[in-house]
This record gives sequence, structure tokens and C-alpha cells, in this order.
Amino acid sequence: MTLRVGVIGTGMIGQDHIRRLTKVLQDVEVVAVSDIDQARASQAAPAGAEVFDTPQALIRADMVEAVVICSWGAAHEEQLLDCIAAGKPVFCEKPMVTSEAAALKVIEAEVALGRRLIQVGFMRRFDADYRNLKAVIDEGYLGAPLMYRSVHRNASVPEGLYTSEMPLNDTLVHDADISRWLLSDEIVGVEVRIPKRSSRGGELRDPTLVLLRMASGVIVDVEISVNIDYGYDIRGEVSCENGVAALPNRPATVISDRHGIRQRIPVDWRERFIEAYDQEFREWIAAARDGGATGPSAWDGYVSTLTADAALRAVTSGHYEAVNTISKPALYEA
Ligand SMILES: NC(=O)c1ccc[n+]([C@@H]2O[C@H](COP(=O)([O-])OP(=O)(O)OC[C@H]3O[C@@H](n4cnc5c(N)ncnc54)[C@H](O)[C@@H]3O)[C@@H](O)[C@H]2O)c1
Repeated sequence: MTLRVGVIGTGMIGQDHIRRLTKVLQDVEVVAVSDIDQARASQAAPAGAEVFDTPQALIRADMVEAVVICSWGAAHEEQLLDCIAAGKPVFCEKPMVTSEAAALKVIEAEVALGRRLIQVGFMRRFDADYRNLKAVIDEGYLGAPLMYRSVHRNASVPEGLYTSEMPLNDTLVHDADISRWLLSDEIVGVEVRIPKRSSRGGELRDPTLVLLRMASGVIVDVEISVNIDYGYDIRGEVSCENGVAALPNRPATVISDRHGIRQRIPVDWRERFIEAYDQEFREWIAAARDGGATGPSAWDGYVSTLTADAALRAVTSGHYEAVNTISKPALYEA
């Protein structure tokens, strides 16, 4: 049975997800789109899909069985609450929301409904390299993890639109989520160090070094560089008691020429995580067809938002800032 999906937000990632939902994946059809930029929505709409004036109308439409939210982070709260009110499974790009208060409202609504409808777009959990890394750590022969180094480098970000808060609000959420998942641990506090500013980003605060303190005592150091020019480079290395496990370099043709021996680096997230996004949606489609969700939950979205908030406070205070969650509702226990 084909899952009939409506996509809200038809910008960069919205268009990429529409491509995979229409051209790559099975048992799914994009039947509706909506964007505050109507012209963009019309251009992005696959043949036969209806363009809705508002996200609310799309969510309520009978033809839409499940929703994919790819609008800006600040718009997610209202759209998620509308999906819960309509009882429709929803895949929401990260960040789930942009404030603790918004995250709590979303959790409260889902808990009141009594079943999971929300899956948050933390696609690293579906990436084969990260899954292999987790399997090695979970097998235990390297001993307990002690430190994890997570590197997140972007070639560039859109000029003018990107603020100094975004590496923490928009990017750190990925590293926070993958640290909790990879290490089966929880974040209890955050520190931020601001190194010498890169001249490539103008006034932008870049790079940023974040230290996540985990409940077990493990420390995660996160390098976020958003203007590093050479490409999109994601790394991860876990130091354990008896050894080290790291993400591999991505396989790429080795070029030898007068500049030396080199390999291509992905241009952006679409290229690096192309299979992870496909897998993330494969698993979401199966869960949504059963009326639910799988993988990263609203709880995981909430914890990442809290971590980003604490990191923003740590920039101002210069000190360790605690991450204090509410007690975890039973709905989100594994
Ligand atoms: N998982 C990932 O790796 C990943 C990668 C890139 C972006 N994202 C996330 O996806 C979301 C979109 O990012 P993007 O790069 O595609 O941005 P974008 O600016 O290219 O596209 C966002 C689109 O949403 C539309 N929009 C904004 N507010 C809206 C609203 N209230 N209702 C309807 N449409 C609205 C905009 O007009 C725009 O077309 C963000 O939350 C971003 O953080 C996730």
C-alpha cells in the first residue's frame, strides 16, 4: 500500500527529500506540498501533487496520510502540534523546535495522544558507518568509552542568513544526538570554548569548540566549523579503555597528479549522507504506514534542543552549564 505524503517547506532539503520520495523510494507518493513561497512550492511539486496555500490546510487534507516537515526550525512547533491534533505520522527535520518551551509543548501533546507520531531527522543514526561504529562499541571488546571526538565541518554557509547562534542551534543538535545514541549515555552539561575567529566568516563566530559532559563521565569534544572552504567533512573517533574506533574515510577514487595524491571530499550533507537519508525514509515509511514513527523521537529532539540552549548560555557565561531534563515519559522508553 502506498503512503500518501505531504511535504511542508520546499527549499534545499525539502526538494532533496521530494526527489528521494518520488524517484528513489518505494511504496510512497508525494501528493501535496506547501511553502510560504508559493512559487517555490509550485516548482517543487511533483506531477499530480496539489499545492496548498497553508501548512495547516495540507496537514488537515484527507488525501495526506503522513507529513514531512522541511520548513525552518522556528516553524516546526506549530506544524508538529497540528500533525498531532490531526493524528498523522510526521517526519520533522532537525532541529525539532528551537526552544525548551516549544519542545515541552510538543512532548506534552504526543504523550496526551498516547502514541508516537513524530520522527526527528537525525539521519546519522541511519548511516552505515555510524551503525558499524556503534556496533563495535556495543560489542565491548574495546572496553568502556572514555572520550569521543566529533568533527562537523561545512565548506560554507549562506551569507547574511546564518547567525553565530546557528552552529549551536542548528548543527550541534546532530552531534548531541549522535553522542547520546553512539555511547548509550546522556548529556548532563556543556561548556563552550571560542577559539581564534576565522577571517573567512566575517562577523560570524566560527569555529566553535563544545565539550559535552556525559552522565558516565565521558567527555565529547565537538569541533564545529561552518566556513572551512574545502568541503563537508564529518569525523568521529571514540577512545575506549583498550583501543580506538573511528568512522572510516568515505571511499572515493584516489587521484594522483602534479598536486599530489588526493581524494574528493563531499560538497555538502546531501552528498555525504545520501544513503543515510534514503535509509531514514525507508524506515520512516514503514513505520508511518503502521500509523507511527521509529528512530529519533520527540524526546531526542527535546534533549538536543536543551543541549543547544545550554551551549548558548555557556557562550555568554563562559562556564559549565547543566542540561536538566524533565523525567522521561514512559512513551519514550525504548
Ligand atoms: N538533517 C540534515 O542534515 C539537514 C540538512 C539541511 C537542513 N536541515 C533542516 O531542514 C530545515 C530546512 O532547511 P533548508 O536548508 O531546506 O532551508 P531552506 O531555507 O532552503 O528551505 C526552507 C523552506 O521552508 C519554507 N518555510 C519556512 N517557514 C515556513 C512555514 N512557516 N511554512 C511553510 N514553509 C515555510 C521556506 O520558504 C523555504 O522554502 C531546517 O530545519 C534545517 O535545519 C536538516
